[in-house]
Amino acid sequence: MSTQSGQSPRHSSSPAIPREHTSLEQIQVKLVEALHEMQKATEAPVPNLRDSIRFVQKALTLVGDADDSTEVGPVDWAAFAVLLHDRRLAAKMSQEVLAEKVDVTATTIRNIESQRRRPGRGLMLKLLAVPELDLRVSDIELDAEQSHGAAWTPTSWFAPKYDPVAMVSDMVEVLNGEGGQVEQTLLYFDPRSAADWMATCNSATYAASYRTNLPFAPIAKHVAAHVGGHMLRVNALGCGDGKAEVMLVDHLQRALPRTNKLELFLLDISHVLLNAAHKHAVETLPTIPVLTVHGNFHELPRYAMLTQPRERCRRLYTLLGFTLVNLKEEVRFFRDTLSCCAPGDLFLCDVLFAYAPPERPDDICRKDPALQSPVRESHAAWLGGPLRRYCRDLADIEFSIALDTNCPVPGSYGLDFIATTKMHNGLPSRRFSILRSRRYDPKKLADSLASVGWHPEVTIPYGQSSDGHPTMALMLFRKR
Ligand SMILES: C[S@@+](CC[C@H](N)C(=O)[O-])C[C@H]1O[C@@H](n2cnc3c(N)ncnc32)[C@H](O)[C@@H]1O
Repeated sequence: MSTQSGQSPRHSSSPAIPREHTSLEQIQVKLVEALHEMQKATEAPVPNLRDSIRFVQKALTLVGDADDSTEVGPVDWAAFAVLLHDRRLAAKMSQEVLAEKVDVTATTIRNIESQRRRPGRGLMLKLLAVPELDLRVSDIELDAEQSHGAAWTPTSWFAPKYDPVAMVSDMVEVLNGEGGQVEQTLLYFDPRSAADWMATCNSATYAASYRTNLPFAPIAKHVAAHVGGHMLRVNALGCGDGKAEVMLVDHLQRALPRTNKLELFLLDISHVLLNAAHKHAVETLPTIPVLTVHGNFHELPRYAMLTQPRERCRRLYTLLGFTLVNLKEEVRFFRDTLSCCAPGDLFLCDVLFAYAPPERPDDICRKDPALQSPVRESHAAWLGGPLRRYCRDLADIEFSIALDTNCPVPGSYGLDFIATTKMHNGLPSRRFSILRSRRYDPKKLADSLASVGWHPEVTIPYGQSSDGHPTMALMLFRKR
């Protein structure tokens, strides 16, 4: 048994004892090998074989006690969960009884069988040593060919044109120009911007309003019913720090039958945020394969690992954190970029509701709370960061919000965050449109996307305005 995780690309090409193993681990490996050989020899005329197997199992239990922090692997964890469950039932043993035999709680056994937890090395050795389970080393370890693949499973992929250095140079050029519209992606990819964005959207007020109340449970049920026996891959576009997406996958893993394979692919243009998202995902969802894709969601059709295979696999694309707004023309994105999606694929996004139709700007100004109060301090720190760091001769920044009633989706309007810069050395001030936000009429958005082949499956409103109405919704669409 090697100590490699199936997901991490730590390098060791054979399951033999790696050099860094401690003497305790060497003993464990030797005992496992002995048990393996004995289990293979049950048909052969070896004297006292059953007793010998029992003694080796006992020894394994004793040495297994010493260490439960290291992972074993490569192991097909989904198959192991099913196997453990089936063997326990075949042995007519409750989770409580098995738990007692291996000195853990029944919850631990339940979590392993439902793939919410992986047994560490010590516990795995103890499970191998329970005679009633009749677990064999060969039942658990992948064979050489499979294990080679699993041991080297990549966790990250870079799009061919992905170039953060060029993106930063471009940003510096834009911020030293005469003003204009700043590409939305610029607000996330330098490390300071990424940290400021994480601070603002994990602040108590923001999290309470937008992050912790997302109605993922009913969405997960709906997705599970749609997926049937297919495997499900969640393609999280613009995943940021991945907090919302991981919450969603956690719900999905509860809603799907244990036998359904579930994978999470995280895509973002910001390396820093993608790194944070990956760390959070593998810590929170230890049994789910997680892959990061460094790229641009406008180039989705080039990323075959996200869109293939079409058979026996359903994909759920997500664009959470109100990122729909990053698309200049939402309907074109669905019609053109997402033409690479397969019929039956799903798309989930969250949207903010319009407070009045775009034809009634006075009502919007009166009702929309964002237009009643100044830009939040943490927001201003995040939005002003790139200007403060890269704009030469900058003296000060003033923020304001402008209403845009000429948005492409019927019934929607935009709020543009404007940064007006005051400059040193007598330079004229500049106006940068630094961030967009949009509000939608969900019915009109659904109709627009239906007209380009994305059927609205379900809309779940949530949040609450001061007059008790929901302020936003999760919207799930299916490709026809
Ligand atoms: C508003 S944040 C939302 C993050 C996350 N989904 C959430 O729910 O909190 C938008 C994210 O999309 C990413 N992003 C923006 N434009 C992108 C693009 N064209 N391609 C890939 N990622 C992009 C940003 O880097 C950022 O992480």
